[in-house]
Amino acid sequence: MAKVGVAIVGFGVIGTGVVEILQKNRELIRNRTGVEIDLKTIVDIDIMTPRRVKPSPDVHFTTDYKEVIADPEVDIVVELVGGTGFALNLVEESLRAGKNVVTANKALLAEKSEAVFGLRNKVGKVIGFEASVAGGIPIIRTVTNALAADNIKAICGIVNGTTNYILTKMSEENWDFQTALKKAQELGFAEADPTLDIGGFDAAHKIAILGALAFNCPIPYDKVYVEGIDKVNLCDIKYAGEMGYVLKLLGIARIDDSDQVEFRVHPTLLPNKHQLAAVRNEFNAVLIDSRYLGTSLYYGRGAGSLPTATAVLADIISVGRSLDNPERSVKYNSFNNYAIKPMGEIESRYYLRFNVADQVGVLSKISGIFAEYNISISSVVQHEMKIENNVPLILTTHLAKEKNITSALDRIEKLDFSNGRGIMIRIME
Ligand code: HSE
Repeated sequence: MAKVGVAIVGFGVIGTGVVEILQKNRELIRNRTGVEIDLKTIVDIDIMTPRRVKPSPDVHFTTDYKEVIADPEVDIVVELVGGTGFALNLVEESLRAGKNVVTANKALLAEKSEAVFGLRNKVGKVIGFEASVAGGIPIIRTVTNALAADNIKAICGIVNGTTNYILTKMSEENWDFQTALKKAQELGFAEADPTLDIGGFDAAHKIAILGALAFNCPIPYDKVYVEGIDKVNLCDIKYAGEMGYVLKLLGIARIDDSDQVEFRVHPTLLPNKHQLAAVRNEFNAVLIDSRYLGTSLYYGRGAGSLPTATAVLADIISVGRSLDNPERSVKYNSFNNYAIKPMGEIESRYYLRFNVADQVGVLSKISGIFAEYNISISSVVQHEMKIENNVPLILTTHLAKEKNITSALDRIEKLDFSNGRGIMIRIME
């Protein structure tokens, strides 16, 4: 029986979930895995406010994390504070003190990867981070263990529950953006700073981590192309819906045949029949395309107390099992250095909406410009609804290069019948 001493730092949404599952399933974990989890200490700046679970009296509460660093009986420090300030200090001090670390902190891993993993490699301890991507879905283990013998070519995922919840409510219930965001905050999915969700940065943290694990390259957070859902118009959700598409915020990591990698996060239209189109509300899903397995899909709850706590506990158990030999634990190995494909070079299908005067020759001028840039039109819809003599003209394209689409939009914007720049949303088949 491996006995593992644990300290939780940050007793919030996830920390309470960890304690709750531990209280209910300690025996099951012991019998199933041979790991005896001994929760020794909980650290938080607020240890007075009662939480929805009450740890047993032998758990020590403190506001001073240094007690944990100094405690020789703590094998694992579970960092559930979030952010990249204090959390980085805590992780570094823990590793230096010879502790293993379990964390749900995607911002820390993505933004401070060199510091965190560099130190981990130096001290030879383990960092478990299953809970950092897609909450309770065991996606880190899938990429690093289950698919360890396969070549991953692409990962596309709905990896942010808050934005998926907002887009679902806007599309299905006609909720406005702010109402949907407020509800997501009440339900506890949103980050403390919800601009991380809305702006696409949380999804960028996660796809940077997943893609790096898949391609064994450095975590390229600062090179991820990021567009959030803050500029999404309800009318585009509706128009695209009429055409058989649903709007999702996707994280995409892909490697092409010449070993160029794409890392991007942006609103994406998916045909209703696409596997990810059916992922609604706060649910997450990750679609992996790998050489030998082919397409595989992983679906579940990407946020919330108990789902995320299952991932934290799985990491604690995994560290417990590998205490005698850390080499057996899940590793992040960055040994490739691929070039990142510039966004102008990516190829996609596109949904384009122009606000144009309802007059002779508009369509022919637009299609002439498209032809100059080698853009093939797939469909055209003009709605009769006029606002001050302007009408929405919606086109979808076949596969085109992004730089050609941007150049065509630049040209069309300058024409006298255009009222503002065309809206562009990428379509994935
Ligand atoms: N804010 C995140 C989300 C929480 O909405 O998915 C889980 O990382």
